[in-house]
Amino acid sequence: MSFIKHVHPVKVPLKALELKSTWALGGMCLVLVTLLAGSGTLMLFSYQPFPEFAYTSVEYLENQFTFGRMIRSMHYFSANLLVLMLFCHMLRVFFTGGYLGKRRLNWIIGLCILSLVLLSCFTGYLLPWDQTAFWAVTICMNMFDYVPAGSMLKTFFITDGGISEKTLQLFFTLHTTVIPTLLIGFLATHFWKVRKAKGVVTSRLAGMGEDDKPVMVAVHPNLLLREAVVALVLTAVIMVLALVFKAPLDEMANAGLSPNPAKAPWYFSGFQELLLHFHPSFAVFLIPTVIFCILIGMPFLRGDIQNEGVWFMSDRAKTAAKTAVLISMTLTPVLVFFDEAVLDFQKWFPGIPGILSTGLVPFVLVICLILVHHFGMKQKFKLSSSEAFQTSAVFLITAFVILTLICIWLRGAGMKLYFWGA
Ligand code: HEM
Repeated sequence: MSFIKHVHPVKVPLKALELKSTWALGGMCLVLVTLLAGSGTLMLFSYQPFPEFAYTSVEYLENQFTFGRMIRSMHYFSANLLVLMLFCHMLRVFFTGGYLGKRRLNWIIGLCILSLVLLSCFTGYLLPWDQTAFWAVTICMNMFDYVPAGSMLKTFFITDGGISEKTLQLFFTLHTTVIPTLLIGFLATHFWKVRKAKGVVTSRLAGMGEDDKPVMVAVHPNLLLREAVVALVLTAVIMVLALVFKAPLDEMANAGLSPNPAKAPWYFSGFQELLLHFHPSFAVFLIPTVIFCILIGMPFLRGDIQNEGVWFMSDRAKTAAKTAVLISMTLTPVLVFFDEAVLDFQKWFPGIPGILSTGLVPFVLVICLILVHHFGMKQKFKLSSSEAFQTSAVFLITAFVILTLICIWLRGAGMKLYFWGA
């Protein structure tokens, strides 16, 4: 109990207790990490990291161990929900300006945590050694060919051009030892930094007392009680999910039989969709690198901290964000269908250069569109630079979500759109 108390400051602003100031997302991420550690440790009692035994050991866990199936399903649902919650937690921090000023370093630590969680999901994906896992990881590994020094990195993980026993054992060690150890270190620093910043970011304009200082309340029991409720409800939800639904397990991996379509895990589907429209060097390397650089640079580029603790700085910014969502929801599918039509056109007229559909042309076109949208919105809604940046972020995040959904739901054999025809 005293350990839990020490994680928090003694008092926090009353405003921070409101659900809408954090939506308890960071706390939920922690609960999910804890559930993952617990269920993962239990699975270690039966799992065998060898290609001949991995699949059967998972089957054995599901069928012969008491609660084996439930433990595996809890691990599966917690991992997937964690990726979703992390994404939402990042959005909350971004929109409330929680990454600025003294919280800068914690944002960077958060990005390290994000990378570790994604790496953990990716390495864990292969462990059941079923068809879905084997081919999803094969696709992702092939993407390394378009990353500088990626082929060299790939040879570290694979043998004879394919996924092998070496890959499985390296992934197993990373997933069960290296990544969790690093994650514990980063998470401890993350919480220490939240504590040092005297809790989460809150609005300077609301929750003020008569002396013009924020009204403070004791963490125990006010915050601890709320955290306990969230932890219990989330654990119950995961347990019910694990009881009702079973974590997927396909046929055993077969290196000679590729499923069609072979899709990457859902959290990489947005990038797999991009891969269909841009040259792989853009989709796999340039675009993710630019996104990551922006995420790292953001706290240092944006000097003002006007929106601390508030999601939108003005009603104009709110309307601009809603408009950006609508534009992005319309424009993204239109561009995807347009590119699909160009690809078909090229099949009929092979003389047309490839750069029209997957080369520099679509990339430059998209960059121009983003710039037109950014400056157009800024002018139309009379936004400040910060508000315009936020509106562009809304536009791009919506586009990425739509791309992810298109890849997951609308792509079939040969990664063609279901209704487009062969
Ligand atoms: C498993 C992963 C993570 C856990 C368990 C976690 C947990 C938390 C918790 C409990 C808080 C305080 C309250 C709250 O927002 O609920 C917090 C704040 C914060 N988190 Fe995370 N977090 C994680 C990942 C991330 C990531 C990926 C980022 C960003 C890239 C991030 C950036 C931040 C920042 C900057 C704050 C301070 C914001 C503020 O004071 O309002 N975190 N985190």
